[in-house]
Amino acid sequence: MSEWIPIATEAECPPGTCIERVAEDRVVAIANVAGRYHALDGLCPHQGGPLGRGTLQGTTLTCPWHGWQFDATTGRHCLSATVRQAIHEIRTDAGMILVRFGEVAGTAT
Ligand code: FES
Repeated sequence: MSEWIPIATEAECPPGTCIERVAEDRVVAIANVAGRYHALDGLCPHQGGPLGRGTLQGTTLTCPWHGWQFDATTGRHCLSATVRQAIHEIRTDAGMILVRFGEVAGTAT
């Protein structure tokens, strides 16, 4: 089981926003959907675009390069049932957002 890694402060990712961070050589997109955090693999499966620099509307995260859209809470592509972005466990502690790699699912408030 991997370690929990501090990756951002809660202040850096207010509700309705998505941010990009790097930890252990992995790019991570952190989305705050109505006060709950979600962590996805930050590299878009289309051509490697930066999902963490995309736009978040509701639960829909849109890649800034060509507009592929994902449900930030599940990693599922909004049109294709066969495309699913990896998601990571996420939690908060004392104002910090922490992620753990190698796990699937998980949200934090
Ligand atoms: S790289 Fe994300 S939509 Fe093309």
